[in-house]
Amino acid sequence: MTPNVLITGCSQDGIGEALALEFHNQGCKVIATARSAAKMQRLADAGITALEMDTTSDDSVNAIAQRLRNDGITVNILVNNAGVICNGPLVETSMDVAQKVIDTNTIGSFRVTRAFTPGMIENRDGLILNVSSVVGRIPLPFGGFYAISKAAMNTMSTVLRTELEPFNIKVMVLEPGAVKSNIANNHLPYQAHESSPYYPVKDLIANRLQLSQIHSTAQGREVFANDVVCNALKKNPPHILITGGKAWLFKILTKLPISWVQWIFAGRFGLKKLKEMVSNQSKTK
Ligand SMILES: NC(=O)c1ccc[n+]([C@@H]2O[C@H](COP(=O)([O-])OP(=O)(O)OC[C@H]3O[C@@H](n4cnc5c(N)ncnc54)[C@H](OP(=O)(O)O)[C@@H]3O)[C@@H](O)[C@H]2O)c1
Repeated sequence: MTPNVLITGCSQDGIGEALALEFHNQGCKVIATARSAAKMQRLADAGITALEMDTTSDDSVNAIAQRLRNDGITVNILVNNAGVICNGPLVETSMDVAQKVIDTNTIGSFRVTRAFTPGMIENRDGLILNVSSVVGRIPLPFGGFYAISKAAMNTMSTVLRTELEPFNIKVMVLEPGAVKSNIANNHLPYQAHESSPYYPVKDLIANRLQLSQIHSTAQGREVFANDVVCNALKKNPPHILITGGKAWLFKILTKLPISWVQWIFAGRFGLKKLKEMVSNQSKTK
């Protein structure tokens, strides 16, 4: 049977678009979704169904679920890919940004899952592929709410895997390392103010945003998507897939005590330097 694959966040040049093309090339019937149809023109040109869906809107998600039901289409593979990144120190994250990150990355994925699992339960078959991140397990500084949103997604996936197993529905968590996409351009705003205690490391904070997009680090989307789709279409997909640029590094970091990881990151992200500055300021006061 040809699986029907619904993917969220399929705007051009992102991971969702690459996954849509790869599932399509491997013979699946793909329903690509994104907030704007104009950003899915390449997919439409490739013969892929492209529908507008905002994962933060009940009306939008329910309308697509209803439309597919009316057309007699059951989603066999659901890919919760839509996501947004934020940067900046956690205590300086605005309530608006915190809310938007959780609404999109965590609640949005939950909303879509809720809408499409009843069909899978009826079918006694399905795969939910949640696109998390390596930072859901190994949180880097200066992107705290993004890491929190992905950690919550990981926990949601574990609960879903247990609760949906009786209905033969599998749950796979994808933890990408660095993959070339628009993620750094689509980030939610943060600007270190001159009065911020983090102002001395503002450049490191700004660079943190680009970390996944450095040319030498980021994996190309096509190679990445091929690896992900081959794994997703296995009879027994892995529970967790860590892949993409620098995935090897995060695999090592997951084996280390968290205190060692924090020590490494404190040096890498300027927090040791900041601590020295703060301590020197305190001495001169
Ligand atoms: N690239 C990486 O290195 C990397 C690493 C780890 C994890 N990830 C994860 O991979 C996923 C895809 O990200 P990407 O790298 O491909 O970034 P991207 O190019 O910015 O793509 C993100 C996609 O999510 C969509 N989106 C955002 N808010 C949405 C909403 N409310 N409703 C529907 N769609 C929405 C965006 O749509 P618009 O175009 O309308 O904004 C876009 O299509 C994300 O979950 C991200 O956290 C990426």
